[in-house]
Amino acid sequence: MAAAKTEIAGVSLACYVFNASGVNDSTFEELEAIANSASPAIMMKSCTPEPRKGNDKPRYSMLPYGSIQCMGLPNLGCKEYIRFASKLKKYKKPIIASIAGFCPGDYKIMCEAFQKSDADLIEVNLSCPNIEGKSQIAYDTSLAEDILAEIWKIGKKPIGLKLPPYYDYANQEDMAELIKRFNVSFITCINSIGNALAINPETETTMLKPKKGFGGLCGDYIKPIALGNIRNFYELLDKEKNKVSIIGVGGIKSGSDAFEFLLAGADAVQVGTAFEREGPSCFKRINKELECILGKKGYKGVQEAKGGLKYL
Ligand code: DHB
Repeated sequence: MAAAKTEIAGVSLACYVFNASGVNDSTFEELEAIANSASPAIMMKSCTPEPRKGNDKPRYSMLPYGSIQCMGLPNLGCKEYIRFASKLKKYKKPIIASIAGFCPGDYKIMCEAFQKSDADLIEVNLSCPNIEGKSQIAYDTSLAEDILAEIWKIGKKPIGLKLPPYYDYANQEDMAELIKRFNVSFITCINSIGNALAINPETETTMLKPKKGFGGLCGDYIKPIALGNIRNFYELLDKEKNKVSIIGVGGIKSGSDAFEFLLAGADAVQVGTAFEREGPSCFKRINKELECILGKKGYKGVQEAKGGLKYL
């Protein structure tokens, strides 16, 4: 069977499918469960400089074809995740930090701290949709630019951006220009689709309490949008040179889903809602299913199939 080994920004992963930030990755116990699973990397919850309780509950709800969440960045604070990274080193899997600030200074402080830590990669989250009164940073190109200017030369660990979904080619081109200009090593796309609303017709109420019920939509609903974003970035970001690694996320729950992301151009994928539904065993199942598909189709590995989408 073809091994689904891959690489993100020069860091090797034993297989293609790992955990998405934000699902069962806030506490040390949860991170250890990921370390002990078949996930080839340990992705940590987006953190802020100080600990946060997050939004009021209910702030997460499963939906028929996915989920909606408005967590509000509950996390134990940057220092704690730095400590967790050093304790997780013994598992010998790449550790990925995720930082989410409220201003460029927050990103600078956390980036400096994680550059000195045991994390292998730093995912800079520019797309949290769930903070009352705040826009998703990546939709404001000039703010995103200010943040990148603060962090891009701080250290040697590869930096990536967690991006929101784009619906317009011009916005995606603007972001691709920033990615190239600041030598971003990888992108993770897409974050949940912000400001969705789920309503319970029985109770005639919103499903979630914070932000008058508005939250980030995840799961099956968002897969085609994620695939579209990945394909466009793959086209825009020097695909021949393989300079910017692309991590796909959004509605992956089977090997077949992961294979679609591979054809679109993803170097690896993350799983969120399916991990919440199924627990850490999802990583073994989805990675195996993908390896079976690659084997049946005669691909020797991920690299051979990557980006190979055919047009009608
Ligand atoms: C949260 C949600 C996100 O989509 C994200 O990228 C980071 C944090 C949250 O609400 O906690």
